[in-house]
Amino acid sequence: MKNEIDVCVFDAYGTLLDVAAAVRHESDRIGDGWQEMAAIWRTKQLEYTWLRSLMGAYTDFRTVTGDALDFAMDSTGVSDDDGLRDDLMALYDRLEAYPEVPDMLRALRSGGMRTAILSNGTKRMISSALGAAEIEDTIDRVLTVETLSVYKPDPRVYQLAVDAFETNAKRVLFFSSNAWDVAGASHFGFRVVWVNRFGHVPERLPGGPDKIVTDLSGVPAMLGML
Ligand code: LAC
Repeated sequence: MKNEIDVCVFDAYGTLLDVAAAVRHESDRIGDGWQEMAAIWRTKQLEYTWLRSLMGAYTDFRTVTGDALDFAMDSTGVSDDDGLRDDLMALYDRLEAYPEVPDMLRALRSGGMRTAILSNGTKRMISSALGAAEIEDTIDRVLTVETLSVYKPDPRVYQLAVDAFETNAKRVLFFSSNAWDVAGASHFGFRVVWVNRFGHVPERLPGGPDKIVTDLSGVPAMLGML
């Protein structure tokens, strides 16, 4: 398969970076409802990207993430004691990578594969998280929606990877844990791996995964590199 692929492109949040890590870190301060708050934060964050894209009212992903956090805290009755909100946002800027991610990326790079991130996040958020996870040297390009002012799954976002690597969509292997992002990328024309970390059921949308895995540890072998 390696010869059929020019670049491995990864979604960031939920795929490489553990989106629940910030809330988990502050779970004692938040209390029993921390998991519910984490779920609402993530869902609202994504909804706001879709809604703002439809409204033609783009603002950057860090602002959207903060707005979604305010909604999540408000709706679960979590108060902003001792600067909890700012602490959660600071943690979001340096989310942990999932455990298998560093070795997987290093194996791809030493096998001669190019790697990229294609994310809704800002360059600043992504580079801060990659720095904290000490994996910035394993990624060739960080592509973000900031240049377009529209969010995934708008096809123009996926086109960023085609343009950056001067390839065609079928030679891009895209990885996402978000089933809706899998649908969007597949519908665009990428080959897609759904990293179904959380045992979700498939979306009923156009486009679907070429392959499903539960984490990223088998990717170098999948590409014939081990
Ligand atoms: C991203 C979100 C969708 O990184 O997880 O683009």
